[in-house]
Amino acid sequence: MPKIKPTLQVEKYEVQDHQSIDLLKELHILTRDGKMNQDSRRKMKQVSHLIQFIEPIIQSVTAEKGQFNLIDFGAGKSYLGFMLYDLVAKLLKTPYKIIGIEVRQELVEYCRKLASKLDFQHMEFHQISAEQSLLAPQIPNKIDIVTALHACNTATDDAIAFALQKNVTHLVLVPCCQAEMASLLKKNKSDSLKNNVFTALWKYPIHTREFGSHLTNVIRCLYLESKGYVVTVTELVGWEHSLKNELIIAHHSPHLGNMAKARDQLRNMLLEFNLSSLAPRYEISIE
Ligand SMILES: C[S@@+](CC[C@H](N)C(=O)[O-])C[C@H]1O[C@@H](n2cnc3c(N)ncnc32)[C@H](O)[C@@H]1O
Repeated sequence: MPKIKPTLQVEKYEVQDHQSIDLLKELHILTRDGKMNQDSRRKMKQVSHLIQFIEPIIQSVTAEKGQFNLIDFGAGKSYLGFMLYDLVAKLLKTPYKIIGIEVRQELVEYCRKLASKLDFQHMEFHQISAEQSLLAPQIPNKIDIVTALHACNTATDDAIAFALQKNVTHLVLVPCCQAEMASLLKKNKSDSLKNNVFTALWKYPIHTREFGSHLTNVIRCLYLESKGYVVTVTELVGWEHSLKNELIIAHHSPHLGNMAKARDQLRNMLLEFNLSSLAPRYEISIE
């Protein structure tokens, strides 16, 4: 795991000398007359906080490999990608690429135009889904870091699948709403209610949604651990800033964890919660 300390100070966030004023105005962080826009502080704080976790990873990858490739799934307007480029990457003397994956064509167009206007030459944007990116020829084979900030529903799972298939060493994920698990819990509720005392955890619809979300992230972490990743789960920012603020950071270090134990726990969890239909996604065999 990277031991390098971040250089960005979030608490005293101030515009740094090297930052592009054009970018900050474009992202509405600065008003046209160059003042800090108070409404953008929330997003700014989230992204800056996230960059504090990603910067040491970039520094460690570049120290080891002399370059880095980062792919951001569900990039939206690529707030994260642009800020990473401007605050961290453009100061590096080594080659790098920051790639945004986004399904909405208009957002991809917007990002391409902005990158060209700012002369951010090492950014690319592709209008494909997270799932499609695995087979997309325009995506480099060697990716070092996967990020996904509030990528909707199962896009986070697709980002994880991409990372595993491409042997990506570092993942930084902030999962978004997750409807799939809640609907499976709901579908199997009557069966589960007969067998499991813990079903009270998702008896009421709001609990089904929240518990579904929680269970999804627990299962994602176990899956990553079962594949040799060391996982840290923490809070992105205080609850006042975002309702979805669970930050999952994973580094591939197979010698450090207990992959077999994680796989057993994952398997038991899928069985216990009547979720065998998800077993193939997590490469678990259930007879
Ligand atoms: C909530 S926004 C987050 C945008 C950005 N990451 C941020 O935090 O500002 C989620 C974005 O993911 C995109 N998206 C949803 N499903 C996707 C998928 N399967 N593959 C790629 N992008 C996806 C949406 O179009 C949307 O722009």
